[in-house]
Amino acid sequence: MSLSAQTQMLQELASTTDLTTLSDIATLYQSLVDTLTEHNHLYYVQNSPIISDTQYDELFDFLLRIEAEFPHLISNNSPTQSLVGQIAEGFSKADHKVPLLSLENSYNPADLANFDERIKKLLAKQEIVEYQYTIEPKYDGISVELIYQEGEFVQAITRGDGYTGEDITTNVKTIKNLPKKLYDVPALLSIRGEIMMSKSVWKSLNLQREQQGKELFANTRNATAGSIKLLDSGEVAKRNLFCFVYDVLYAENAEGESVGYDIGSSALPMMSFPASLTQGYTIEEICLNPAIKAFLDSQDFDFDGLVIKVADTGYRQLLGSTMHHPRWGIAYKFPAEQMSTQILSVDFQVGRSGIITPVANLRPVKVSGVEISRASLHNFDFIRHKDIRQLDVVWIQRSGEVIPHIMGVIKERRTGEEQLIQAPLFCPSCNDPVINSGMHYYCTNPNCPAQVKEKILHFVSKNAMNIQGIGEGVVDVLVDKGIMHNVADMYKLEDAALRIMLRKFPGFGDRKIYEITKQVKASKKQPLWRIINALGIPHVGEKTSQDICKLLAKEQADSLDKMQAILTDSEKVIMLPWIGEKTVFTLQNFFSASHTLELLRQLERVGIRFSAVREVKEKKEKRATFAITGTFPFSRDKIKELMVQQGYGFHGKPTERTDFLLVGEKAGAKKLQQAEGLTMYEGRETLLREFPFLKSLEVNAPKVVASVRNVQERLF
Ligand code: IVH
Repeated sequence: MSLSAQTQMLQELASTTDLTTLSDIATLYQSLVDTLTEHNHLYYVQNSPIISDTQYDELFDFLLRIEAEFPHLISNNSPTQSLVGQIAEGFSKADHKVPLLSLENSYNPADLANFDERIKKLLAKQEIVEYQYTIEPKYDGISVELIYQEGEFVQAITRGDGYTGEDITTNVKTIKNLPKKLYDVPALLSIRGEIMMSKSVWKSLNLQREQQGKELFANTRNATAGSIKLLDSGEVAKRNLFCFVYDVLYAENAEGESVGYDIGSSALPMMSFPASLTQGYTIEEICLNPAIKAFLDSQDFDFDGLVIKVADTGYRQLLGSTMHHPRWGIAYKFPAEQMSTQILSVDFQVGRSGIITPVANLRPVKVSGVEISRASLHNFDFIRHKDIRQLDVVWIQRSGEVIPHIMGVIKERRTGEEQLIQAPLFCPSCNDPVINSGMHYYCTNPNCPAQVKEKILHFVSKNAMNIQGIGEGVVDVLVDKGIMHNVADMYKLEDAALRIMLRKFPGFGDRKIYEITKQVKASKKQPLWRIINALGIPHVGEKTSQDICKLLAKEQADSLDKMQAILTDSEKVIMLPWIGEKTVFTLQNFFSASHTLELLRQLERVGIRFSAVREVKEKKEKRATFAITGTFPFSRDKIKELMVQQGYGFHGKPTERTDFLLVGEKAGAKKLQQAEGLTMYEGRETLLREFPFLKSLEVNAPKVVASVRNVQERLF
């Protein structure tokens, strides 16, 4: 059985609660040990995991449960018995007060010019025309949050999923170049940095491991990841790790108010370029200057690019972030390793909007340590422009993380056997005729099974309806057997007769069906922004869906009809921040199409509500909890007293359980940044109507914003 099939089987069994019901536990145990060992190898050695950390954790937990119940089975080969690289049991989870975002990537001067163009436009809106950039090395290590209280280093948390990581404080204490005491710093200081292993330590560690017959670490990053998760901090100390810092996450004074802080003035370790390499050059010139790359290559640490940031931290705050990236910075990745290989054949994939994407099947080849066997050919303009033919030998490169890119054809290696790549005349999935528009070819059959499958996979995905347990295999069965024709048919699974019928298909065990049904039912309560995101409207992702919900809430849209009227009103929609004409047009098209409305009505019939006001009402009934930042005409104690008197909860600092952040004068930059994009009410009128107790505070024009991510989910 392939590793992937084996993993899937084990994942299904992992949800078994009563282990005694499992037959042949010894064989199951051995296959779990083997599978996890292979995943470790893929992660740490090949640098190409095929399952997520969470999926790994689930299997690892399953293994731990079996070992706890059947200790006689425990084998020396079990991943639980070796410490390296395990998501150690010994680390507790810890939340990041401010989400740890990632940077947008760029790979060429055109991306950088676009970035600059964007910054120029955004700052011009605030009447700022002069601004500067800083340029830093992009550390290729393990991202970490470091917290200092009263100057004392108190906690280190891995990035994890950006919201919750693992507490690795004890291990980070062993890092010698990281000061454990800082002087003249704010009372609470949270810094973002990168834990690294030097190239020389990595080489000698691998040498030692080779002698011991242990697997080698593919690169310094993997070696760092393996080392920082060792349970024995004495062992970690021997690994000689380093830490470099590059960003302040938040800084607060003793009163809990946000204050500015410049890490450049601290004793914290940072790296910078010699002025001769940066002064007087444009960002494009610096990024393309081979001397910059040569300088970084000559260091004892690995860097995978450069980071360009707007220099002024005040401007950074104005620019804010999207859900995923700060708008004020961008990473420039150094060009990746290139390899040549042959295009063996070309497949055509049908996406959820019907676009047909040609995909090349390649003779497998390793690029920067990862085996590549497929690469997208994007569209027919790309094929024509690069004159790519079947059987051509091409240059491929891994741009960014894993996605391989075809750079060009090696024409000298043509034999005459190569064939032109023709667009398909008929959809490879439903056989309907394909139409051509611009550079794309489309299947326009709304019932095309490939499109329906993609739409369903998007509908259930983590950032949409988050219905777990529905992967490609399940969707294939549901669509191919004619059970589902659109995303709303997902709710047919609530029908008991259908569930019984499903049991005859492979992969649909009782437990699996039970779990899926539970999730399907629960998904009806998802906040409106997730429902909008799940519809898969072109150009409308998570962030735009959330912005749309804010608009709908402001407009008091409490029904499908109202939502439709607002979203087809271009004048209203264009008022949304960060929204372009293309999206306005797509929204208008989407919400006026009769088949969309039919689908939305079907969703409504199964119990999904298209109301942006419902969650707010529910929230009020539950008695909201508030935290405050900035100064008010009253003392904090007075505010607290009033809030508590009125039955509202008061938190000294925003936590996961805080619902609203009340923002006064001179509000803390970081708290605001944390709440950025989550604004729920703005303007005195709406606020006072929703929260009359604010009247008694006589706050003039407060802003109330949702403060933490789970609140945001509950609100919209
Ligand atoms: S600034 C996005 N500066 O690169 C938050 N990040 O996606 C601010 N990284 O994992 C990041 N060197 O941890 C910044 N000089 C540097 C960096 C850097 C490495 C990491 C960061 C993140 C990734 C970017």
